[in-house]
Formats: sequence, C-alpha cells, structure tokens
Amino acid sequence: MAGNTFGTLFKITTWGESHGQATGVVIDGCPSNIPLKESDIQKEVDRRKPASTSKISTTRHEEDKVQILSGVFEGKTTGTPISIIAQNKNIREEDYNDIKTAYRPGHADYTYELKYGIRDYLGGGRASGRETLARVMAGAVAKKILLLKTKTEIFGHTVQVGDIKAKKFDTDYILKNMGVTEKDQLRCLDQKTSKKMLKFIEEIRFREGDSVGAIIEIIIKNPPKGLGEPVFDKLDADLAKAMMSIGAVKGVEIGAGFKTAEMKGSENNDQMKIAGGKVKFLTNNCGGILGGISTGEDIVIRLAIKPVPSISKELKTITTSGKNISINTLGRHDCCLAPRIIPVAENMAAIVITDHFLRQTSIK
Ligand SMILES: Cc1cc2nc3c(=O)[nH]c(=O)nc-3n(C[C@H](O)[C@H](O)[C@H](O)COP(=O)(O)O)c2cc1C
Repeated sequence: MAGNTFGTLFKITTWGESHGQATGVVIDGCPSNIPLKESDIQKEVDRRKPASTSKISTTRHEEDKVQILSGVFEGKTTGTPISIIAQNKNIREEDYNDIKTAYRPGHADYTYELKYGIRDYLGGGRASGRETLARVMAGAVAKKILLLKTKTEIFGHTVQVGDIKAKKFDTDYILKNMGVTEKDQLRCLDQKTSKKMLKFIEEIRFREGDSVGAIIEIIIKNPPKGLGEPVFDKLDADLAKAMMSIGAVKGVEIGAGFKTAEMKGSENNDQMKIAGGKVKFLTNNCGGILGGISTGEDIVIRLAIKPVPSISKELKTITTSGKNISINTLGRHDCCLAPRIIPVAENMAAIVITDHFLRQTSIK
C-alpha cells in the first residue's frame, strides 16, 4: 500500500492535503500511562509555524490548533490509537488557478499526475510542506515518551545558508544556548553570521525574486545505547529514511559523513579508552552509530535543504496538454526552508529514536 505509515512499534500514519479540511495523524503503539495534554503537542506545532514577523517565511498563517480525538483518558495515554487533528482555515483556492493546467518546476506536480492520473493542485496537495504538521504532532508524543523514559534531548540549528557558514560549536554549548537559537529568525546560534545570512536571503528574495538552500544540523543528545536493528533497520538507515522523507531534503550525512571519503582510517576510526570506569570515545566521527547500533555518544545528522521551488521568476515548463510555456510561481511561500524544517526534522528523529527504544525494550 501507499507509503503514509512510518515506524514499527511506534507507528504513525499521516493524512491530509494542503487545502483539505484538516491535517492529522494516527499513532498506533504508543505505550499506556504517558501523561499527554493538547498543550504538549501545541508547543511543538507552534515551533513549526512561520513567524508572523518573518520576512523569509510564507504569509500563509494557520492557527494550527491541535485537538486530540482519541487514545487519551484523564490526561494519560491508554495504549489505544491516538488521533490528533488540526483544521486548515487559511485557504485561498484562487491562488492556484494558473497551475491547474501547468506543472511547476521543482515541485511534485508532474510526478503526482504521472503516478496517480489525478492531482490535487491546491498548494501542492499531499506534497505540501503542510503534511509535516502531522509529523510534528506525532513527534511531540514521541518526545514525551523520551522525556519520561530516557535522558535523550533532540535539537536542531542552521549551520549554513547558501555558502555562508556559521561558526562551529560543541554540542554541549549548542544545548545550553538553545534559547538563543529558538529566538533567532533562522534558528542559527552564531548571531553575527545569522544577520549576514538573513541579509543574503532578503537580497535574493526581494531583488532577484529567487530562493536559497541551506544546511541544518540535528543533534540527538544522550541517546540510549544499543538502539538499531541490523541489518535493514540500522539506526542510521532509519534516521536517513525519516529525514529524506521530508520535502525539500536532498542530502543526509551522519557524523563525519561525506568527509570520511577524504580521511585515512587512522583519522576516521574513533579510538576508545576506559576513564573513571566508563567507556569513552576519543572522537565521534561515526556520529554515535557503529554497525547500525547507537554507541551512546551524540548522534549528529546534517541535512541539505534545497532552495524553495516556488520563486518569482519566469521558468520554462509544460502544460498538462503538452504545450511549452513559461511560469512564474507567485503566491505565499517560504524563501529559505531551514528554520521551518528544523522542528520537523527534530520530531522525525524523536519518532525514530522512540520506535527503536520500544523495539529494544521489547527484546531485553
Ligand atoms: C515545512 C515545509 C515548508 C515548505 N514550504 C514551501 C513553500 O512555501 N513553497 C514551496 O515552493 N515549497 C515549499 N516546501 C517544499 C516543497 O514541499 C517540496 O520541495 C516539493 O513538494 C517537492 O518535493 P521534493 O523537494 O522533496 O522533491 C516546503 C517543505 C517543507 C518541509
């Protein structure tokens, strides 16, 4: 069947289109007796919303008010399916008349029609970034489980916009300064560079009518040791799948990633020692995963995010009846997706870690 379900024990199914009545998720396999309130989910969902003051985000503002429909009784999960929903309200169907009969370059319009023989052209339908709202709802529940049962924390930040790179910080420093990152329009910890990035994005958007790509980093701090099911459900394989399933994510690397191609074994291998009776790794080039199983060190993932496809520039495309035309994708769009994808990627990471944590506790 079609791929709208993700996870093995903590299993989520998302549903909904950009301009449909509502967007939602069904979570099957959530353990019972986890305290859960709508406000726990709302907090995460609000982090995904475009800031109303942002000059680089879409001007589509949705209330995104979440409602738990099932699976929670007297403030605790019951072990039955949890259904969570948010209504879509800020709908402008007239914005999409031009693309009813044309395929937008960089979008999923052509491939959806090719595959299904029908396409919901309103705001990209199911391929819209709006679908990620449902993942964030599920991730908020996963984060509650992790909070209760592990010491794991998950957080993300922007490390590059175009070719402008942020200063490198160690993961403890990043975690301690998450307050600064959360307040930053780009979710970048390096405040000086963030201003440069923002200026660059605004120039590209307002002077050129164009958009820019970015790199974000997701850090999973204190993950449980021993997570991952070799061979096909290795932890890195599942994390990569979770990340690549987010729209506009075009590359994933874990630990030293693509740099390992330039390294010698003696540089890349993370040497080990016993210190204070505990196992210590001298480096973390493997990004906290060896043989598909977590070492307990930080899991560090970087995602390459493509420039937003909708831009105010004429580009060549074709119509549904096979004519060559030019199209300018006006409308309400983000210009750099990094700050919006961070909460989505954090929550997808939470879903994967929770799923593997439940799988691990079921065998030991
Ligand atoms: C949270 C989020 C918001 C997005 N917002 C926009 C947007 O405003 N405009 C746009 O053109 N694409 C946006 N996208 C990207 C498109 O959905 C995506 O590029 C498109 O569906 C094609 O899929 P692909 O890039 O994964 O191949 C967004 C994606 C996400 C995850």
